Amino acid sequence: MTDPAQISKDPFFTSGYEGKRIILIPYSEDRDLVHIHAMFQDPRTTGPLGIDSKKFPIDKIRDQKRERMEAPDASDWTIFIKKGGDEKFAGEVGLVNWDYETHVVEIFAAISPDLSGKGYGRETVSILMERIFARSMIAIVRVQTLTTNKAALKLSYALGFRETGRRAVSPDPEIGFVGGIAVVMDCLFYEFRPYK
Ligand SMILES: CC(C)(COP(=O)(O)OP(=O)(O)OC[C@H]1O[C@@H](n2cnc3c(N)ncnc32)[C@H](O)[C@@H]1OP(=O)(O)O)[C@@H](O)C(=O)NCCC(=O)NCCS
Repeated sequence: MTDPAQISKDPFFTSGYEGKRIILIPYSEDRDLVHIHAMFQDPRTTGPLGIDSKKFPIDKIRDQKRERMEAPDASDWTIFIKKGGDEKFAGEVGLVNWDYETHVVEIFAAISPDLSGKGYGRETVSILMERIFARSMIAIVRVQTLTTNKAALKLSYALGFRETGRRAVSPDPEIGFVGGIAVVMDCLFYEFRPYK
C-alpha cells in the first residue's frame, strides 16, 4: 500500500475530526482492518446493504480501502467513541469521491451493530457534512441506500437529505448481492440539519 503521507492530498481528506462523543481518525490498515472486517462478518451490517457477510472477504475490504486512501479525492475514516484515552472502535465512514465538475460528494457509513441506534451514525455523518460544507458551500452531499434500509433512510432524512431519484442496482454475485432499488438522496448547505 502506498503510504498515505506520500500522496499529495488535500489535508481535508487526511485530517481527523472530532464530535461530542466520537472522533474520526483517517483509516489505518494495521490498526483498523481487522475490526472493520469483523463488523462486515456480521449480518446486521451486511443485511441492510443487501450483501452476504460470508462473501465479503477481508481482501475485498482491504482493496476497496486502499483504493480510496490512494485516490486524491476520496477517503476513509475509522470511528472511535471517546473514552478518555481508551477509544473504542465504532465503525467506518468515508467519501467515495468528490466530483469537482458536479460538486457531488458521496458519503457512506457503517456503525458496529452492537452500538447501533444510539445516534452515533447520525453524529458521524453530521461531523463529516459540517467539514464538507466548511470546505465548499456549494457541495451536494449524496447518500445512496437500498429502499429497504430503514436505519440509513431515517438517519438521512433526519440530517436534511431529500430523495432525488431511484435507480436499479445490478446483482453482484461476487459479494452475494442480489440486486435492488437504491434511493438517491442529496443535501445542500441550507438543507443540512446538524446533529446536536
Ligand atoms: C445506517 C447506520 C449507519 C445507522 O447508524 P446508527 O448509529 O445505528 O444510527 P442512529 O442511531 O444515528 O439512528 C438513525 C435512525 O435509525 C434508526 N435505526 C437504527 N437501527 C435501526 C434498524 N435496525 N431498523 C430500523 N431503524 C433503525 C434509529 O432508531 C434512528 O431513528 P430515530 O431517529 O427515529 O430514532 C447503521 O445502522 C449501519 O451501519 N447499518 C449497516 C450499514 C449501512 O446500512 N450503512 C448505510 C449505507 S450508506
